[in-house]
Amino acid sequence: MLKEKIAEIKTKSFAEIEKTASEQMLYDVKVKYLGRKGKLTEILKNLKNLDEKKRKTVGALANRIRMEIENAIAKHGREMSEKVDWEKEAIDVTLPGKKQELGHLNPITLVQRDIEKIFTSMGFEIADGPEVELERYNFDALNFPKDHPARDMQDTFWVKSKKESLVLRTHTSPVQIRYMEKHKPPLRIVAPGRVFRNEATDAKHEHTLHQFEALMVGDDISVGNFKYIAQQFFTIFFGKETQIRLRPSFFPFTEPSFEFDISCSICGGKGCRTCKQAGWIEIGGAGMVNQNVFAAAGYPKNKYQGFAWGFGLERLAMMKYKIDDIRWIESGDLRFIKQF
Ligand code: DAH
Repeated sequence: MLKEKIAEIKTKSFAEIEKTASEQMLYDVKVKYLGRKGKLTEILKNLKNLDEKKRKTVGALANRIRMEIENAIAKHGREMSEKVDWEKEAIDVTLPGKKQELGHLNPITLVQRDIEKIFTSMGFEIADGPEVELERYNFDALNFPKDHPARDMQDTFWVKSKKESLVLRTHTSPVQIRYMEKHKPPLRIVAPGRVFRNEATDAKHEHTLHQFEALMVGDDISVGNFKYIAQQFFTIFFGKETQIRLRPSFFPFTEPSFEFDISCSICGGKGCRTCKQAGWIEIGGAGMVNQNVFAAAGYPKNKYQGFAWGFGLERLAMMKYKIDDIRWIESGDLRFIKQF
C-alpha cells in the first residue's frame, strides 16, 4: 500500500514539476510534496509506526524518491532560467526613477514658522490655547462688558454646552489669560493659532483665520519696547526696513489701545494699489495691557505693566507671497498650494 502511494507521489509530482512555468510555481510544488506538511514528508514522519522490516524498505524508498523529486525540481529550475531571454528581462538602471510627489506647506504654516523663529530668537516663548474656548476666557477675563457688541451672535460662533458657555475663539487674546494664570512676570510670549468669526466671505474676509498674539509683561515694559520689537520683527519678516505707525483705538483689554499699521511692503510707503495709495497697511491691534486683565489672571493691580498685540497671519501671508484673494488660503486647491 505505502509503496504504491510513494510511487503515485513520484508520478504526480514529476508531472506537476514539468508543468511549472515560474519560480513561484516550482516552489509551491516543492512545498506540496516536501514541505513541513508535504505529502512525502507525512509518510516519512509516520515511519516510526511501522514494524522494523517495513520501516527499512519503505524508509529507503521514500528517501530515494525524495532525492529524485529534489533533483527534478532543481533540474527544471535550471531549464527555466536557461530559457529566459536575459537581454529582454534586464533592467536599465540608468533610466530616471519615478518622482514621488512631495506635499506642500500652506503659506499660513510658512508664515507661522517664520514668526516662531524670529520671536524665539528674541527670547519669546511660544504659547497655545484651545480653539473651542470658554466664553469667560474669550470675553469676560479680557474685560469685555456683558453687553459689548463683539459678543453678538453676528461675529461669534457659539457652541452648545450644558456647563460653561463655550465659543469658537474669536481671537488669540484668551491665551494671554491662560498663560498668565500659570506664570508670573517677567514674561514674553507669542501665541499663533486659528480663530473663527461669523463673516460673510469675500476677497478680504474669511470665517476661519489665523492670528498671532504677543504679550510682554514686566515691571516697566513700555510702548517703546513694543514699537522696537514690532519694528524688528517686521523688518526681519519682510527682509527690508519696515516702518510702523500707531493710531489711537479702543480694545477693552488694553489701555491705551492702538491700531497698528506698517509701511507698505510693496511700494515701501510711496503709495500703490495694494495700500490704496496710503503707503500704510493696517495689520492689527495692540496696546498696554489693561489692569483689569491682570486682575482677571490673578495678578495684583498696578504692580506690572506690559504690551500685547494681535495680528492677522493671513494679511502677512498675502503681503509676503502676493496672494490677491484670502479665500485661496483655505481652499485646498492644489493649483494654489503647489506654488509654495
Ligand atoms: N484681539 C483683537 C482682535 O482680534 C486684536 C488685539 C488688539 C489683540 C489689541 C491684542 C491687543 O492683544 O492688545 O481684534
